[in-house]
Amino acid sequence: MPDGVSIGAATPGDVTELLALWAAAAENDGRPADTAQAVLALLARDPDACLVARHSGRIVGSLIAGWDGWRAHLYRLAVHPAMRRQGIARALLEAGAARLRALGATRLDAMVLEGNELGQALWRGSGYAPQAEWRRWVKPSS
Ligand SMILES: CC(C)(COP(=O)(O)OP(=O)(O)OC[C@H]1O[C@@H](n2cnc3c(N)ncnc32)[C@H](O)[C@@H]1OP(=O)(O)O)[C@@H](O)C(=O)NCCC(=O)NCCS
Repeated sequence: MPDGVSIGAATPGDVTELLALWAAAAENDGRPADTAQAVLALLARDPDACLVARHSGRIVGSLIAGWDGWRAHLYRLAVHPAMRRQGIARALLEAGAARLRALGATRLDAMVLEGNELGQALWRGSGYAPQAEWRRWVKPSS
């Protein structure tokens, strides 16, 4: 990881910057829109779930390491384009895995779009593999 980068939990004061990071850097297709209200609700429910990487006081990376009491899911892995390929995503994944293991998780998973070659390179390089026998089934909640 580059010098001066630290990883910690996001706070409610980070929400505007997080949304800006995701608009600029995240994979945004095929999912519900991000809102400040949704991020604040996540932080209220689980204050340690959203990890951020900071550099010079700015958020340069993110990972939601979610634990629902039964399974662990990773979301919103993104690194600012100017800070990529320096190990920030790997460090976020290691911090997220440590948190989820401590909560009892025995398996970690992430949803990765079929066309996201960059994301797939990251997950493969981090030891994840697609589970070919499953498809995610969805419908709007209302
Ligand atoms: C994917 C992403 C999070 C990677 O962030 P990063 O900080 O650059 O990744 P790291 O430097 O920690 O790379 C870790 C490993 O991932 C793989 N990887 C990362 N970027 C890669 C690239 N451009 N090409 C090939 N492999 C890559 C490599 O195995 C790399 O290890 P190495 O550098 O030792 O070879 C970043 O490119 C990003 O934000 N992309 C857009 C959002 C996105 O697609 N997120 C994933 C959603 S499923």
